[in-house]
Amino acid sequence: MKNILVTGGAGFIGSNFINYILDTRDDYFIVNLDKLTYAGNLENLKPSEGKKNYQFVKGDITNNEFVNYIFEKFNIKYVINFAAESHVDRSILGSEIFYRSNVIGTNVLLETSRRFEIEKFFQISTDEVYGSLGSTGLFTETTPLSPNSPYSSSKAAADMMVMAFYHTYGMPVVITRCSNNYGPYQFPEKLIPLMIINSLNGKKLPVYGDGMNVRDWIYVIDHNKAVELVFEKGRVGEVYNVGASNEMPNLQIIKLILKKLGKSEDLIEFVKDRPGHDRRYAIDSSKIQNELGWKPGFIFEEAIEYTVDWYLKNKSWWERIISGEYQKYYYDLYQNRK
Ligand code: NAD
Ligand code: DAU
Repeated sequence: MKNILVTGGAGFIGSNFINYILDTRDDYFIVNLDKLTYAGNLENLKPSEGKKNYQFVKGDITNNEFVNYIFEKFNIKYVINFAAESHVDRSILGSEIFYRSNVIGTNVLLETSRRFEIEKFFQISTDEVYGSLGSTGLFTETTPLSPNSPYSSSKAAADMMVMAFYHTYGMPVVITRCSNNYGPYQFPEKLIPLMIINSLNGKKLPVYGDGMNVRDWIYVIDHNKAVELVFEKGRVGEVYNVGASNEMPNLQIIKLILKKLGKSEDLIEFVKDRPGHDRRYAIDSSKIQNELGWKPGFIFEEAIEYTVDWYLKNKSWWERIISGEYQKYYYDLYQNRK
């Protein structure tokens, strides 16, 4: 049994990871440490609730003493760090919490991991650390880091720290840098769920700038299968890019969502651009494909269709987010039992 600390497991990608892993294997014991910020939602983890190889703990990765206590209590040997403030727009409004959670938090996890001599430290990073591309070219693992937003600069700082712990202390680290994820349980501030939910509510769809910024979209389960593979077989000290070679301008995705929902394009509203808006991201994932045999399993057209249907079928999930009800779920589940 591998005792793994998964941080940020109540967020979008982390909760999908835990649900997927606990559904498919029984050799991991997962401790999910999550602060339950606005982005943390324990309702995402209903499929994993009550499983004997799963334990949720509410806590902040910047809290040194508490993190130390968790490592000791659960005999943690592996860390997968999903925890982060993840939304670029919020980082533009105020950057402090981004540097606190994403940089200081990662440092606390690294220092604790060093003391406990853990067997693997896995940093979940992002393609945004590479900055922005022009109309051609792809990000490879050797593309220089050139982050443009407070969010991406905090993630780049964390990546550099992780590599410094590898070079200085020989810590067994690994990093993945993935492109834009979509799928169930994504917080409705991010492009795809926001556009689906606004369309359903007959609200305007705010398109930044000219709507021609390009993102490289990957279904969340494909990302998480890559995480599982890199966790098991990735070479220590290495970075692996993860992407599904599915570039698309924002406007194209928005129109596709409107079409699928049978809504009018009149809902589209061009608004002021995001400051410092990266123009294009596109990932070269040949390293993970050639070295570890990973490849994306989902076709965009099918997975986006499934995703839109998921938000249609799970209206109460996002309505509880909009009303704020979701934040009471933790108390119903854990606090009221005491
Ligand atoms: P999210 O915002 O949905 O979830 C983040 C989770 O981290 C939340 O549950 C939150 O409560 C928790 N958290 C935040 N600060 C914390 C702290 N100080 N201590 C403990 N928990 C804390 O994010 P996401 O979209 O699931 O992204 C997860 C990770 O993947 C992030 O590191 C992000 O940078 C990276 N990533 C995201 C994408 C994407 O498209 N969403 C792509 C590539 C990489
Ligand atoms: O590339 C990986 C990154 O993808 C992750 O590291 C981030 O955590 C994740 O949030 C995401 O960042 P983006 O900034 O690309 O995602 P977002 O969904 O915020 O925006 C996607 C694109 O859509 C971007 O070009 C901005 C645009 N956009 C977004 C919103 C929320 C709009 O035009 N209107 C909107 O209302």
